[in-house]
Amino acid sequence: MPLICHFATLLHSTLELKLATCVQFRGAFVGINIGTESRNLPVPVDVVSILKARKITNVRLFDADRRMLIALANTGVEVMVGVTNEDVLGIGQSPSVAAAWINNNVAAYLPTTNITAIAVGSEVLTTIPHAASVLVPAMTHLHHALVASNLSFQVKVSSPQSMYVIDGPFPPSTAIFNSTWNSTIYQFLQFLKKTGSFYMLNAYPYYGYTDGDGIFPIEYALFQPLSSIKQIVDPNTVFRYSNMFDAMVDAVYYSMVALNFSGIPVLVTESGWPWLGGTNEPAATIENAEAYNNNLIRRVLNNSGPPSQPSVPVSTYIYELFNEDSRPGPVSKKNWGMLYTNGTAVYPFRLNYSGIISGNSSKGVFCTAKEDADPSSLEAGLDWACGPGKANCDAIQEGRPCYEPDTLPNHASFAYNDYYHKMQSAGGTCDFGGTAMFTDVDPSHGSCVFAGSSRSGRSGAITPFSAFGPVSPETARSTTMQVSEVAFLIPAILVLFHC
Ligand SMILES: *[C@@H]1O[C@H](CO)[C@@H](O)[C@H](O)[C@H]1NC(C)=O
Ligand SMILES: *[C@@H]1O[C@H](CO)[C@@H](O)[C@H](O)[C@H]1NC(C)=O
Ligand SMILES: *[C@@H]1O[C@H](CO)[C@@H](O)[C@H](O)[C@H]1NC(C)=O
Ligand SMILES: *[C@@H]1O[C@H](CO)[C@@H](O)[C@H](O)[C@H]1NC(C)=O
Ligand SMILES: *[C@@H]1O[C@H](CO)[C@@H](O)[C@H](O)[C@H]1NC(C)=O
Ligand SMILES: *[C@@H]1O[C@H](CO)[C@@H](O)[C@H](O)[C@H]1NC(C)=O
Ligand SMILES: *[C@@H]1O[C@H](CO)[C@@H](O)[C@H](O)[C@H]1NC(C)=O
Ligand SMILES: *[C@@H]1O[C@H](CO)[C@@H](O)[C@H](O)[C@H]1NC(C)=O
Ligand SMILES: *[C@@H]1O[C@H](CO)[C@@H](O)[C@H](O)[C@H]1NC(C)=O
Repeated sequence: MPLICHFATLLHSTLELKLATCVQFRGAFVGINIGTESRNLPVPVDVVSILKARKITNVRLFDADRRMLIALANTGVEVMVGVTNEDVLGIGQSPSVAAAWINNNVAAYLPTTNITAIAVGSEVLTTIPHAASVLVPAMTHLHHALVASNLSFQVKVSSPQSMYVIDGPFPPSTAIFNSTWNSTIYQFLQFLKKTGSFYMLNAYPYYGYTDGDGIFPIEYALFQPLSSIKQIVDPNTVFRYSNMFDAMVDAVYYSMVALNFSGIPVLVTESGWPWLGGTNEPAATIENAEAYNNNLIRRVLNNSGPPSQPSVPVSTYIYELFNEDSRPGPVSKKNWGMLYTNGTAVYPFRLNYSGIISGNSSKGVFCTAKEDADPSSLEAGLDWACGPGKANCDAIQEGRPCYEPDTLPNHASFAYNDYYHKMQSAGGTCDFGGTAMFTDVDPSHGSCVFAGSSRSGRSGAITPFSAFGPVSPETARSTTMQVSEVAFLIPAILVLFHC
């Protein structure tokens, strides 16, 4: 991926320091999976209207459905198509089957439908182990067919892997690929390296949390602040992992390093949280799904990588657009959809924060308290924001412009929003124990102006460099952070100066 470097010149006494900040040519994106195992899916043109209304720019299909690919033509949406597990075997055994697949499912739609990637099978090694030996041949045959059609620069080939191909993913620094698939994984990585493709990862903190049976606090899975006694630090690297998603992505990077591979970026092809589960699935709730997916979006769009690869953003496809009620298995398997099939959101979310992406202002996005949140949680959130969170709470004091209406949700909204606008570029989140949410509606009223409002003269954002102070909820509470923050900064600075 092309890199652009901006050189900022800082005058410090007579010393001139050149700071090179490198950003990916395109920042990380958040896309969405469109599964179709449902009895009442909207027709493709309606699905596409929903995508447009939600400003969704990247989608993954699990197959190469003709009607969907036609409906996606001339929309600007980038599309990842899929080879189903059933088709992997045939393609792996025959270059001509692969060439036909490319002609019928990719070349036929380009360039009007912007197909940018092919996911070959889904978790092939763990779901159909007998096909492991043909996986890389299938990828190679497809790639050759793309080369023959001069499409290999536009369309990348890879294959989504489950976390279960990795042994001992924590601490990430000691993670390795399960040696059962030694030769396959080796060839797989060689292929990705040679073709400039990415490692496709299905990363599910939901399963990490539920499989962990209480080992991990749920806050760790949900990207929520951890109390200092629960800080999760990799003892070998002293990297602090504030969330399980980052730890999973880093486990993949370290597993690749263990096989001497570097420079293969991780692309998360699936991540999400179910919002309804059976009686034995208590973590599958709307509140948790809302927290997970909104925090995931924020995490991805802050454009940084996991601790070992801070300069490599992790683009991610959320799983998934609609529920799939025809899927077999427990209740939670069928309820990952962020939208009902009529296009209404199951819970509020926002996929595109252009302000966050630029690292500049987040004008037009407000972080407010949920009206129906539990009052004692709101009180705790308000206290935290105005205290350790260092929000400017002057305006909500008695007699000041934002005191009225004198309600807990109003005061908390002001404080949450002020905190969020100051700290978002440094990793501050809009969560507050699940009592906060994003909204497009400017809550300013009268002479009370909320941060980020078009009525305020300036944005509340702070510069990226001062942002490395101890500012996020996690850091403010943590004492171990001092060490890991330094450990995080050193590789970050090295990378910045290397480009
Ligand atoms: C397709 O997506 C790629 C990757 O973002 C972009 O560079 C290209 O311009 C797009 N092509 C069309 C025809 O929109
Ligand atoms: C192949 O595609 C690239 C752009 O992806 C283009 O610049 C080049 O001219 C094409 N080559 C041929 C032989 O069509
Ligand atoms: C590696 O994978 C095999 C096959 O799935 C499994 O039996 C084995 O337990 C795994 N090894 C470890 C250390 O988890
Ligand atoms: C896989 O590779 C590792 C490290 O190179 C080696 O120790 C192990 O014996 C190999 N396992 C198999 C099943 O080939
Ligand atoms: C990785 O490279 C190092 C140094 O070149 C070598 O000692 C080691 O055996 C290599 N490991 C593998 C798994 O190839
Ligand atoms: C969409 O569907 C959901 C679930 O069936 C329902 O609760 C909601 O009211 C519907 N919205 C509209 C606008 O019809
Ligand atoms: C977000 O939306 C704006 C306008 O709606 C668009 O210009 C921008 O490219 C989008 N950014 C991403 C990363 O999708
Ligand atoms: C940041 O925002 C200001 C004003 O809102 C604008 O002038 C500037 O170009 C923006 N910078 C970036 C990097 O987007
Ligand atoms: C992005 O998020 C990560 C993980 O929460 C955090 O460590 C990092 O500081 C954030 N970076 C920026 C620039 O906000």
